[in-house]
Amino acid sequence: MDFQLSEEHLMIRQAARDFAQTELLPGVIERDEHQKFPTEQIKKMGELGFLGMMVDPKYGGSGLDTMSYVLAMEEISKVDASASVVMSVNNSLVCWGIEKFGSEEQKQKYLTKLATGEQIGAFCLSEPEAGSDATSQRTTAEDKGDYYLLNGTKNWITNGSTASVYLVIAQTNPELGHKGINCLIVEKGMEGFQVGLKENKLGIRGSDTHSLMFTDVKVPKENRIGEDGFGFKFAMQTLSGGRIGIASQALGIASGAYELALKYSQERKAFGKTISEHQAIAFKLADMATNIDAARHLCMHAAWLKDQKQNFDKEGAMAKLFASKTAMDVTVEAVQIHGGYGFVKEYHVERLMRDAKITQIYEGTSEIQKIVISRSVLKG
Ligand code: CAA
Ligand code: FAD
Repeated sequence: MDFQLSEEHLMIRQAARDFAQTELLPGVIERDEHQKFPTEQIKKMGELGFLGMMVDPKYGGSGLDTMSYVLAMEEISKVDASASVVMSVNNSLVCWGIEKFGSEEQKQKYLTKLATGEQIGAFCLSEPEAGSDATSQRTTAEDKGDYYLLNGTKNWITNGSTASVYLVIAQTNPELGHKGINCLIVEKGMEGFQVGLKENKLGIRGSDTHSLMFTDVKVPKENRIGEDGFGFKFAMQTLSGGRIGIASQALGIASGAYELALKYSQERKAFGKTISEHQAIAFKLADMATNIDAARHLCMHAAWLKDQKQNFDKEGAMAKLFASKTAMDVTVEAVQIHGGYGFVKEYHVERLMRDAKITQIYEGTSEIQKIVISRSVLKG
Protein backbone atom coordinates (compact mmCIF):
# COMPACT_ATOMS: atom_id res chain seq x y z
CA MET A 1 0.00 0.00 0.00
CA ASP A 2 1.26 3.44 -0.84
CA PHE A 3 -0.58 6.28 0.87
CA GLN A 4 2.02 8.86 -0.10
CA LEU A 5 0.01 11.79 -1.42
CA SER A 6 1.19 13.19 -4.74
CA GLU A 7 1.48 16.90 -5.55
CA GLU A 8 -1.82 16.55 -7.40
CA HIS A 9 -3.53 15.00 -4.35
CA LEU A 10 -2.30 17.85 -2.15
CA MET A 11 -3.56 20.42 -4.66
CA ILE A 12 -6.99 18.79 -4.83
CA ARG A 13 -7.26 18.65 -1.05
CA GLN A 14 -6.30 22.33 -0.81
CA ALA A 15 -8.78 23.30 -3.53
CA ALA A 16 -11.58 21.45 -1.74
CA ARG A 17 -10.57 23.00 1.61
CA ASP A 18 -10.55 26.51 0.11
CA PHE A 19 -13.89 25.96 -1.59
CA ALA A 20 -15.46 24.67 1.63
CA GLN A 21 -14.22 27.65 3.63
CA THR A 22 -15.06 30.38 1.13
CA GLU A 23 -18.21 29.04 -0.54
CA LEU A 24 -19.84 26.53 1.79
CA LEU A 25 -19.17 27.87 5.28
CA PRO A 26 -21.02 31.18 4.80
CA GLY A 27 -24.70 30.29 4.99
CA VAL A 28 -24.32 26.67 6.09
CA ILE A 29 -26.23 27.27 9.34
CA GLU A 30 -29.05 29.07 7.53
CA ARG A 31 -29.33 26.36 4.87
CA ASP A 32 -29.57 23.73 7.59
CA GLU A 33 -32.17 25.74 9.51
CA HIS A 34 -34.38 26.36 6.46
CA GLN A 35 -33.68 23.06 4.64
CA LYS A 36 -32.33 25.05 1.72
CA PHE A 37 -30.60 23.14 -1.07
CA PRO A 38 -27.12 24.60 -1.83
CA THR A 39 -28.02 25.36 -5.47
CA GLU A 40 -25.35 27.98 -6.21
CA GLN A 41 -22.67 26.07 -4.34
CA ILE A 42 -23.40 22.82 -6.19
CA LYS A 43 -23.22 24.69 -9.48
CA LYS A 44 -19.75 25.96 -8.54
CA MET A 45 -18.71 22.48 -7.44
CA GLY A 46 -19.61 21.28 -10.93
CA GLU A 47 -17.56 24.07 -12.51
CA LEU A 48 -14.57 23.10 -10.35
CA GLY A 49 -14.84 19.44 -11.37
CA PHE A 50 -16.00 18.07 -8.00
CA LEU A 51 -19.13 16.38 -9.38
CA GLY A 52 -17.46 14.06 -11.88
CA MET A 53 -14.09 13.61 -10.20
CA MET A 54 -13.35 10.07 -11.39
CA VAL A 55 -15.00 10.34 -14.81
CA ASP A 56 -12.79 10.14 -17.91
CA PRO A 57 -12.13 13.65 -19.30
CA LYS A 58 -13.54 12.48 -22.66
CA TYR A 59 -16.95 12.43 -20.90
CA GLY A 60 -16.39 15.78 -19.20
CA GLY A 61 -14.92 14.45 -15.95
CA SER A 62 -11.77 15.31 -14.02
CA GLY A 63 -10.12 11.90 -14.62
CA LEU A 64 -8.86 11.61 -11.04
CA ASP A 65 -8.38 8.58 -8.81
CA THR A 66 -10.50 7.43 -5.87
CA MET A 67 -7.88 8.73 -3.40
CA SER A 68 -8.45 12.27 -4.73
CA TYR A 69 -12.18 11.76 -4.28
CA VAL A 70 -11.70 10.66 -0.64
CA LEU A 71 -9.55 13.74 0.06
CA ALA A 72 -12.08 16.12 -1.49
CA MET A 73 -15.06 14.42 0.20
CA GLU A 74 -13.37 14.78 3.60
CA GLU A 75 -12.74 18.50 3.13
CA ILE A 76 -16.23 19.30 1.82
CA SER A 77 -17.86 17.20 4.56
CA LYS A 78 -15.92 18.97 7.33
CA VAL A 79 -18.01 22.03 6.55
CA ASP A 80 -21.23 20.94 4.81
CA ALA A 81 -22.36 17.32 4.75
CA SER A 82 -25.51 18.31 2.84
CA ALA A 83 -23.37 19.43 -0.09
CA SER A 84 -21.12 16.38 0.20
CA VAL A 85 -24.00 13.90 -0.06
CA VAL A 86 -25.00 15.50 -3.37
CA MET A 87 -21.38 15.16 -4.45
CA SER A 88 -21.17 11.55 -3.26
CA VAL A 89 -24.36 10.36 -4.98
CA ASN A 90 -23.49 12.12 -8.23
CA ASN A 91 -19.87 10.88 -8.32
CA SER A 92 -19.84 7.39 -6.95
CA LEU A 93 -23.34 6.11 -7.62
CA VAL A 94 -24.62 7.83 -10.74
CA CYS A 95 -21.52 8.81 -12.76
CA TRP A 96 -19.53 5.72 -11.79
CA GLY A 97 -22.49 3.41 -12.45
CA ILE A 98 -23.08 4.81 -15.94
CA GLU A 99 -19.39 5.01 -16.85
CA LYS A 100 -18.63 1.47 -15.67
CA PHE A 101 -21.73 -0.32 -16.97
CA GLY A 102 -23.56 2.02 -19.36
CA SER A 103 -23.55 1.84 -23.17
CA GLU A 104 -21.60 4.35 -25.25
CA GLU A 105 -24.90 6.03 -26.21
CA GLN A 106 -25.90 6.33 -22.52
CA LYS A 107 -22.50 7.84 -21.70
CA GLN A 108 -22.77 10.36 -24.53
CA LYS A 109 -26.33 11.25 -23.65
CA TYR A 110 -26.18 11.39 -19.85
CA LEU A 111 -22.67 11.11 -18.40
CA THR A 112 -21.18 14.26 -19.93
CA LYS A 113 -23.84 16.50 -18.40
CA LEU A 114 -23.70 14.69 -15.05
CA ALA A 115 -19.90 14.83 -14.82
CA THR A 116 -19.82 18.58 -15.37
CA GLY A 117 -22.68 19.21 -12.97
CA GLU A 118 -24.88 20.61 -15.74
CA GLN A 119 -27.31 17.96 -14.53
CA ILE A 120 -27.54 16.15 -11.19
CA GLY A 121 -28.27 12.46 -10.79
CA ALA A 122 -30.15 10.32 -8.27
CA PHE A 123 -29.84 6.64 -7.36
CA CYS A 124 -33.18 4.99 -6.60
CA LEU A 125 -33.03 1.63 -4.87
CA SER A 126 -34.90 2.03 -1.56
CA GLU A 127 -38.66 1.61 -1.32
CA PRO A 128 -41.19 1.95 1.49
CA GLU A 129 -40.90 -1.81 2.09
CA ALA A 130 -37.44 -2.53 0.73
CA GLY A 131 -34.52 -0.79 2.43
CA SER A 132 -31.87 -3.14 3.80
CA ASP A 133 -33.71 -6.04 2.18
CA ALA A 134 -32.96 -4.63 -1.23
CA THR A 135 -33.84 -7.70 -3.31
CA SER A 136 -37.53 -7.32 -2.28
CA GLN A 137 -38.22 -4.73 -4.98
CA ARG A 138 -41.93 -3.92 -5.40
CA THR A 139 -41.40 -1.41 -8.22
CA THR A 140 -42.03 -3.20 -11.49
CA ALA A 141 -40.57 -2.66 -14.96
CA GLU A 142 -42.76 -4.71 -17.25
CA ASP A 143 -41.13 -5.64 -20.54
CA LYS A 144 -43.35 -4.30 -23.35
CA GLY A 145 -41.08 -4.96 -26.30
CA ASP A 146 -39.30 -1.73 -27.12
CA TYR A 147 -40.00 -0.10 -23.74
CA TYR A 148 -40.49 -0.92 -20.04
CA LEU A 149 -43.65 0.09 -18.21
CA LEU A 150 -42.49 1.39 -14.82
CA ASN A 151 -44.82 1.37 -11.79
CA GLY A 152 -44.11 1.82 -8.10
CA THR A 153 -42.71 4.09 -5.40
CA LYS A 154 -39.15 4.83 -4.32
CA ASN A 155 -38.40 6.27 -0.89
CA TRP A 156 -35.75 8.52 0.62
CA ILE A 157 -34.20 9.55 -2.68
CA THR A 158 -31.32 12.02 -2.32
CA ASN A 159 -31.44 14.75 -4.99
CA GLY A 160 -35.07 13.68 -5.39
CA SER A 161 -36.33 17.01 -6.73
CA THR A 162 -33.08 18.54 -7.98
CA ALA A 163 -31.96 15.64 -10.17
CA SER A 164 -32.61 15.42 -13.89
CA VAL A 165 -31.44 11.81 -14.32
CA TYR A 166 -32.58 8.92 -12.10
CA LEU A 167 -31.16 5.40 -11.98
CA VAL A 168 -34.22 3.36 -11.01
CA ILE A 169 -33.98 -0.24 -9.87
CA ALA A 170 -37.10 -2.30 -10.60
CA GLN A 171 -38.32 -5.88 -10.86
CA THR A 172 -38.99 -7.23 -14.36
CA ASN A 173 -39.23 -10.99 -13.74
CA PRO A 174 -40.35 -11.69 -10.14
CA GLU A 175 -40.02 -15.44 -10.68
CA LEU A 176 -36.25 -14.93 -11.16
CA GLY A 177 -35.81 -13.11 -7.83
CA HIS A 178 -32.83 -10.78 -7.81
CA LYS A 179 -31.82 -12.08 -11.25
CA GLY A 180 -35.02 -10.52 -12.67
CA ILE A 181 -34.16 -6.98 -11.55
CA ASN A 182 -33.16 -4.18 -13.98
CA CYS A 183 -31.76 -0.66 -13.66
CA LEU A 184 -33.39 1.94 -15.92
CA ILE A 185 -32.31 5.49 -16.65
CA VAL A 186 -35.37 7.67 -16.09
CA GLU A 187 -35.49 11.34 -17.03
CA LYS A 188 -37.33 14.01 -15.09
CA GLY A 189 -40.37 14.98 -17.07
CA MET A 190 -41.17 11.51 -18.41
CA GLU A 191 -44.94 11.16 -18.35
CA GLY A 192 -46.21 9.45 -15.19
CA PHE A 193 -43.13 10.31 -13.09
CA GLN A 194 -43.96 12.39 -10.02
CA VAL A 195 -41.77 13.73 -7.21
CA GLY A 196 -43.34 13.39 -3.73
CA LEU A 197 -43.02 15.63 -0.67
CA LYS A 198 -39.64 16.59 0.76
CA GLU A 199 -38.65 14.84 4.01
CA ASN A 200 -38.11 17.04 7.09
CA LYS A 201 -34.92 15.52 8.49
CA LEU A 202 -32.75 15.43 11.63
CA GLY A 203 -29.55 16.09 9.67
CA ILE A 204 -28.17 16.84 6.19
CA ARG A 205 -31.15 19.18 6.05
CA GLY A 206 -29.76 21.11 3.07
CA SER A 207 -30.03 18.00 0.89
CA ASP A 208 -33.38 17.19 -0.69
CA THR A 209 -34.78 13.77 0.11
CA HIS A 210 -38.03 12.77 -1.59
CA SER A 211 -40.22 9.83 -2.40
CA LEU A 212 -40.77 9.29 -6.13
CA MET A 213 -43.87 7.86 -7.77
CA PHE A 214 -43.96 6.09 -11.13
CA THR A 215 -47.29 5.42 -12.82
CA ASP A 216 -47.15 3.70 -16.20
CA VAL A 217 -43.93 5.48 -17.12
CA LYS A 218 -42.74 4.33 -20.55
CA VAL A 219 -38.95 3.95 -20.39
CA PRO A 220 -37.25 3.10 -23.70
CA LYS A 221 -35.40 -0.23 -23.78
CA GLU A 222 -32.14 1.55 -24.64
CA ASN A 223 -32.28 3.13 -21.16
CA ARG A 224 -31.65 -0.20 -19.43
CA ILE A 225 -28.13 -0.48 -18.00
CA GLY A 226 -26.42 -3.74 -18.91
CA GLU A 227 -28.00 -7.06 -19.81
CA ASP A 228 -31.56 -8.05 -18.86
CA GLY A 229 -31.49 -9.01 -15.14
CA PHE A 230 -28.25 -7.19 -14.31
CA GLY A 231 -29.95 -4.51 -12.16
CA PHE A 232 -29.35 -5.97 -8.70
CA LYS A 233 -25.67 -6.71 -9.33
CA PHE A 234 -25.39 -3.24 -10.83
CA ALA A 235 -26.79 -1.78 -7.59
CA MET A 236 -24.52 -3.87 -5.36
CA GLN A 237 -21.34 -3.15 -7.27
CA THR A 238 -22.13 0.54 -7.52
CA LEU A 239 -22.94 0.73 -3.80
CA SER A 240 -19.60 -0.89 -2.93
CA GLY A 241 -17.85 2.17 -4.35
CA GLY A 242 -20.51 4.49 -2.94
CA ARG A 243 -19.67 3.26 0.54
CA ILE A 244 -16.15 4.66 0.20
CA GLY A 245 -17.78 8.04 -0.52
CA ILE A 246 -20.03 7.89 2.55
CA ALA A 247 -17.13 6.63 4.70
CA SER A 248 -15.19 9.73 3.58
CA GLN A 249 -18.20 11.89 4.36
CA ALA A 250 -18.28 10.43 7.89
CA LEU A 251 -14.53 10.99 8.19
CA GLY A 252 -14.98 14.63 7.19
CA ILE A 253 -17.82 15.19 9.66
CA ALA A 254 -15.63 13.71 12.42
CA SER A 255 -12.52 15.68 11.53
CA GLY A 256 -14.51 18.92 11.15
CA ALA A 257 -15.95 18.50 14.66
CA TYR A 258 -12.56 17.50 16.06
CA GLU A 259 -10.80 20.57 14.64
CA LEU A 260 -13.45 22.85 16.15
CA ALA A 261 -13.23 21.06 19.53
CA LEU A 262 -9.42 21.17 19.56
CA LYS A 263 -9.37 24.91 18.90
CA TYR A 264 -12.11 25.64 21.42
CA SER A 265 -10.41 23.55 24.13
CA GLN A 266 -7.25 25.63 23.78
CA GLU A 267 -9.14 28.91 24.14
CA ARG A 268 -11.77 28.20 26.79
CA LYS A 269 -10.55 28.62 30.35
CA ALA A 270 -11.94 26.92 33.46
CA PHE A 271 -10.37 26.66 36.91
CA GLY A 272 -7.46 28.91 35.91
CA LYS A 273 -6.29 27.01 32.81
CA THR A 274 -7.50 26.09 29.35
CA ILE A 275 -9.88 23.14 29.36
CA SER A 276 -7.39 21.24 27.14
CA GLU A 277 -5.05 21.24 30.15
CA HIS A 278 -7.58 19.17 32.08
CA GLN A 279 -6.69 15.57 31.42
CA ALA A 280 -10.32 14.50 30.99
CA ILE A 281 -10.58 16.82 27.97
CA ALA A 282 -7.08 16.04 26.67
CA PHE A 283 -7.89 12.31 26.70
CA LYS A 284 -11.10 12.92 24.76
CA LEU A 285 -8.98 14.71 22.13
CA ALA A 286 -6.55 11.77 22.10
CA ASP A 287 -9.39 9.29 21.48
CA MET A 288 -10.90 11.49 18.78
CA ALA A 289 -7.58 11.93 16.96
CA THR A 290 -6.80 8.20 17.12
CA ASN A 291 -10.17 7.10 15.76
CA ILE A 292 -10.10 9.73 13.01
CA ASP A 293 -6.67 8.55 11.90
CA ALA A 294 -7.85 4.93 11.89
CA ALA A 295 -10.95 5.89 9.88
CA ARG A 296 -8.81 7.83 7.40
CA HIS A 297 -6.53 4.82 6.90
CA LEU A 298 -9.52 2.54 6.26
CA CYS A 299 -10.93 4.99 3.70
CA MET A 300 -7.58 5.31 1.96
CA HIS A 301 -7.03 1.56 1.96
CA ALA A 302 -10.40 0.93 0.30
CA ALA A 303 -9.73 3.74 -2.20
CA TRP A 304 -6.26 2.38 -2.92
CA LEU A 305 -7.62 -1.11 -3.58
CA LYS A 306 -10.25 0.33 -5.92
CA ASP A 307 -7.60 2.33 -7.77
CA GLN A 308 -5.49 -0.85 -8.07
CA LYS A 309 -8.57 -2.56 -9.60
CA GLN A 310 -8.65 -5.08 -6.74
CA ASN A 311 -11.77 -6.19 -4.87
CA PHE A 312 -12.66 -3.68 -2.15
CA ASP A 313 -16.19 -4.77 -1.09
CA LYS A 314 -15.12 -5.78 2.43
CA GLU A 315 -12.71 -2.87 2.90
CA GLY A 316 -15.29 -0.31 1.72
CA ALA A 317 -17.82 -1.76 4.18
CA MET A 318 -15.21 -1.68 6.98
CA ALA A 319 -14.37 1.93 6.19
CA LYS A 320 -18.05 2.92 6.28
CA LEU A 321 -18.77 0.95 9.46
CA PHE A 322 -15.83 2.40 11.36
CA ALA A 323 -15.88 5.95 10.00
CA SER A 324 -19.61 6.36 10.66
CA LYS A 325 -19.23 5.19 14.28
CA THR A 326 -16.27 7.55 14.62
CA ALA A 327 -18.38 10.41 13.25
CA MET A 328 -21.06 9.72 15.87
CA ASP A 329 -18.61 9.34 18.78
CA VAL A 330 -16.44 12.32 17.85
CA THR A 331 -19.32 14.72 17.24
CA VAL A 332 -20.98 13.82 20.57
CA GLU A 333 -17.66 14.51 22.35
CA ALA A 334 -17.15 17.72 20.36
CA VAL A 335 -20.48 19.02 21.69
CA GLN A 336 -19.42 17.97 25.21
CA ILE A 337 -16.10 19.83 24.92
CA HIS A 338 -17.97 22.97 23.89
CA GLY A 339 -20.25 22.72 26.95
CA GLY A 340 -23.39 24.87 26.62
CA TYR A 341 -21.97 26.61 23.54
CA GLY A 342 -21.94 23.24 21.80
CA PHE A 343 -25.70 23.08 22.16
CA VAL A 344 -26.36 26.18 20.09
CA LYS A 345 -26.17 26.56 16.33
CA GLU A 346 -23.42 29.20 15.96
CA TYR A 347 -20.72 26.76 17.05
CA HIS A 348 -21.47 24.21 14.27
CA VAL A 349 -20.84 21.06 16.33
CA GLU A 350 -24.51 20.36 17.09
CA ARG A 351 -25.20 20.32 13.33
CA LEU A 352 -22.25 18.02 12.70
CA MET A 353 -23.62 15.71 15.42
CA ARG A 354 -27.03 15.62 13.70
CA ASP A 355 -25.41 15.12 10.29
CA ALA A 356 -23.24 12.25 11.58
CA LYS A 357 -26.19 9.95 12.31
CA ILE A 358 -27.21 9.42 8.69
CA THR A 359 -23.81 7.94 7.84
CA GLN A 360 -24.77 4.90 9.95
CA ILE A 361 -28.01 4.48 7.99
CA TYR A 362 -27.73 5.23 4.28
CA GLU A 363 -25.87 3.23 1.63
CA GLY A 364 -26.37 0.24 3.94
CA THR A 365 -26.88 0.50 7.70
CA SER A 366 -24.07 -0.48 10.08
CA GLU A 367 -25.79 -3.84 10.55
CA ILE A 368 -25.72 -4.38 6.76
CA GLN A 369 -22.00 -3.49 6.64
CA LYS A 370 -21.45 -6.18 9.28
CA ILE A 371 -23.33 -8.68 7.08
CA VAL A 372 -21.07 -7.79 4.12
CA ILE A 373 -17.89 -7.96 6.23
CA SER A 374 -18.81 -11.16 8.09
CA ARG A 375 -19.81 -12.98 4.87
CA SER A 376 -16.46 -12.00 3.38
CA VAL A 377 -14.34 -13.07 6.36
CA LEU A 378 -16.27 -16.33 6.76
CA LYS A 379 -15.75 -17.11 3.07
CA GLY A 380 -12.05 -16.67 3.71
N1 CAA B 1 -21.02 -7.17 -6.12
C1 CAA B 1 -21.58 -8.00 -7.04
N2 CAA B 1 -22.60 -8.82 -6.73
C2 CAA B 1 -23.05 -8.83 -5.48
C3 CAA B 1 -22.51 -8.00 -4.47
C4 CAA B 1 -21.45 -7.14 -4.84
N3 CAA B 1 -20.88 -6.31 -3.97
N4 CAA B 1 -23.18 -8.21 -3.33
C5 CAA B 1 -24.11 -9.16 -3.59
N5 CAA B 1 -24.02 -9.52 -4.89
C6 CAA B 1 -24.81 -10.53 -5.60
C7 CAA B 1 -24.66 -11.90 -4.96
O1 CAA B 1 -23.52 -12.57 -5.44
C8 CAA B 1 -25.94 -12.57 -5.37
O2 CAA B 1 -25.86 -13.04 -6.69
P1 CAA B 1 -25.78 -14.64 -7.04
O3 CAA B 1 -27.05 -15.23 -6.47
O4 CAA B 1 -25.70 -14.67 -8.53
O5 CAA B 1 -24.55 -15.13 -6.35
C9 CAA B 1 -26.94 -11.42 -5.38
O6 CAA B 1 -26.19 -10.22 -5.48
C10 CAA B 1 -27.79 -11.39 -4.12
O7 CAA B 1 -26.90 -11.26 -3.04
P2 CAA B 1 -27.22 -11.84 -1.60
O8 CAA B 1 -27.70 -13.24 -1.71
O9 CAA B 1 -26.04 -11.56 -0.76
O10 CAA B 1 -28.48 -10.93 -1.21
P3 CAA B 1 -29.15 -10.62 0.19
O11 CAA B 1 -30.60 -10.55 0.00
O12 CAA B 1 -28.59 -11.51 1.24
O13 CAA B 1 -28.68 -9.07 0.47
C11 CAA B 1 -27.26 -7.27 1.10
C12 CAA B 1 -27.39 -8.66 0.47
C13 CAA B 1 -25.76 -7.01 1.19
C14 CAA B 1 -27.85 -7.23 2.49
C15 CAA B 1 -27.92 -6.22 0.18
O14 CAA B 1 -29.32 -6.43 0.09
C16 CAA B 1 -27.65 -4.80 0.62
O15 CAA B 1 -26.58 -4.26 0.35
N6 CAA B 1 -28.63 -4.11 1.32
C17 CAA B 1 -28.48 -2.71 1.67
C18 CAA B 1 -29.06 -1.82 0.60
C19 CAA B 1 -28.38 -0.49 0.54
O16 CAA B 1 -27.19 -0.35 0.78
N7 CAA B 1 -29.13 0.53 0.13
C20 CAA B 1 -28.57 1.82 -0.11
C21 CAA B 1 -29.49 2.61 -1.00
S1 CAA B 1 -28.64 3.96 -1.80
C22 CAA B 1 -28.40 5.11 -0.65
O17 CAA B 1 -28.64 4.91 0.48
C23 CAA B 1 -27.79 6.43 -1.17
C24 CAA B 1 -27.71 7.48 -0.13
O18 CAA B 1 -28.26 7.36 0.93
C25 CAA B 1 -27.00 8.69 -0.33
P1 FAD C 1 -34.76 -1.21 7.41
O1 FAD C 1 -34.14 -1.98 6.33
O2 FAD C 1 -36.20 -1.41 7.68
O3 FAD C 1 -33.95 -1.43 8.76
C1 FAD C 1 -34.44 -1.09 10.05
C2 FAD C 1 -33.42 -1.60 11.07
O4 FAD C 1 -33.32 -3.04 10.99
C3 FAD C 1 -32.00 -1.05 10.82
O5 FAD C 1 -31.34 -0.83 12.03
C4 FAD C 1 -31.34 -2.20 10.07
O6 FAD C 1 -29.93 -2.19 10.18
C5 FAD C 1 -31.97 -3.40 10.76
N1 FAD C 1 -31.91 -4.61 9.92
C6 FAD C 1 -32.57 -4.85 8.76
N2 FAD C 1 -32.24 -6.04 8.27
C7 FAD C 1 -31.35 -6.59 9.13
C8 FAD C 1 -30.62 -7.83 9.19
N3 FAD C 1 -30.73 -8.73 8.21
N4 FAD C 1 -29.82 -8.04 10.23
C9 FAD C 1 -29.68 -7.12 11.21
N5 FAD C 1 -30.31 -5.93 11.22
C10 FAD C 1 -31.14 -5.67 10.19
N6 FAD C 1 -31.94 5.11 -0.70
C11 FAD C 1 -31.76 5.14 -2.04
O7 FAD C 1 -32.02 4.16 -2.73
N7 FAD C 1 -31.28 6.26 -2.62
C12 FAD C 1 -30.96 7.38 -1.93
O8 FAD C 1 -30.52 8.38 -2.52
C13 FAD C 1 -31.16 7.38 -0.52
N8 FAD C 1 -30.91 8.48 0.23
C14 FAD C 1 -31.27 8.51 1.54
C15 FAD C 1 -31.18 9.70 2.28
C16 FAD C 1 -31.64 9.75 3.58
C17 FAD C 1 -31.58 11.03 4.34
C18 FAD C 1 -32.16 8.57 4.18
C19 FAD C 1 -32.71 8.58 5.60
C20 FAD C 1 -32.19 7.38 3.51
C21 FAD C 1 -31.76 7.33 2.17
N9 FAD C 1 -31.87 6.17 1.42
C22 FAD C 1 -31.66 6.18 0.07
C23 FAD C 1 -32.43 4.96 2.02
C24 FAD C 1 -31.43 4.20 2.88
O9 FAD C 1 -30.47 3.57 2.10
C25 FAD C 1 -32.24 3.21 3.75
O10 FAD C 1 -32.94 3.99 4.72
C26 FAD C 1 -31.37 2.18 4.41
O11 FAD C 1 -30.81 1.32 3.45
C27 FAD C 1 -32.14 1.37 5.46
O12 FAD C 1 -33.37 0.91 4.97
P2 FAD C 1 -34.73 1.15 5.83
O13 FAD C 1 -34.78 2.60 6.15
O14 FAD C 1 -35.84 0.55 5.07
O15 FAD C 1 -34.50 0.36 7.17
